[in-house]
Amino acid sequence: MSRGLSGRVAIVSGVGPGLGIELVRGLAREGARLVLCDVDANNLEAAGREAAQLGAAHVEGLVDIRDGARCEALVANALAAFGRIDVLVNDAFLAEAPATFEDASLGDWQAVADVNLWGTLRMIKAALPALKRAGDACIVNVNTHGVERLDREFGGYTASKAALAHLTRHLAREFGPFGIRVNGVHPGPMDGEPRRRHLATIAAELGTSFEVLDAEARGRTSLGFLATPADVADAVLFLASPAARAITGQALYVDGGEWFH
Ligand SMILES: NC(=O)c1ccc[n+]([C@@H]2O[C@H](COP(=O)([O-])OP(=O)(O)OC[C@H]3O[C@@H](n4cnc5c(N)ncnc54)[C@H](O)[C@@H]3O)[C@@H](O)[C@H]2O)c1
Repeated sequence: MSRGLSGRVAIVSGVGPGLGIELVRGLAREGARLVLCDVDANNLEAAGREAAQLGAAHVEGLVDIRDGARCEALVANALAAFGRIDVLVNDAFLAEAPATFEDASLGDWQAVADVNLWGTLRMIKAALPALKRAGDACIVNVNTHGVERLDREFGGYTASKAALAHLTRHLAREFGPFGIRVNGVHPGPMDGEPRRRHLATIAAELGTSFEVLDAEARGRTSLGFLATPADVADAVLFLASPAARAITGQALYVDGGEWFH
């Protein structure tokens, strides 16, 4: 499908192996030029291979988004390679081990916020001058439906993402006059390999089976199935495309109708 993203230069922070790699595939198929970054060399290499196989012009940066200087260096490399930046997709994230607030260490919550909130803001800060020059640019922050559908044990992760949801609206307001749209995509649990492995571990801990937990999760949705990473990537691509030219400051929930926002 052609969404009008051909030739656009898109940065993706966090490129795999779930949603990140699907974003790379989707943007590459659209003919976008890609700037890939990740803190994990294996994930970065796999994403670069995939982009090359799909014929996408791309550059790669081994970047930890907790380091502002590395974010700035990535943007400089992108500009050296392509001369412009049109799209920034913030996908990289960290989640703490499940624990209540009472049991969790505040250091763990801070570490999570340093990636999900501050890391995302570092990327936006670094890319902002180039996005302003593009004149018709957009930022998509990958969030979670967990900012509304609260869980007892992931408060650090959801608090960092809730702050990001607020800043998505704030930055939409601030950057609108520069022609920069800012939106959030809020997935529910995505039906991919990472979740399957995670659920199998939890099932073993709880003395139940993957199938039971999986059926429960599907049963909570209206549509009876979980969105896949490819479904969520489609929503990101839509928001990044000219078809969404009048949409900014919005949260798009992609969770099979589990949570009504
Ligand atoms: N997996 C789910 O079911 C789910 C549900 C709701 C929301 N989300 C959100 O979707 C997004 C993608 O999740 P996913 O599970 O598909 O992950 P993913 O497969 O897209 O991988 C995320 C990548 O982020 C990278 N990363 C982590 N810390 C980094 C750092 N400091 N600097 C640079 N890169 C870093 C990791 O190495 C990894 O490659 C996240 O923002 C997450 O919060 C995921």
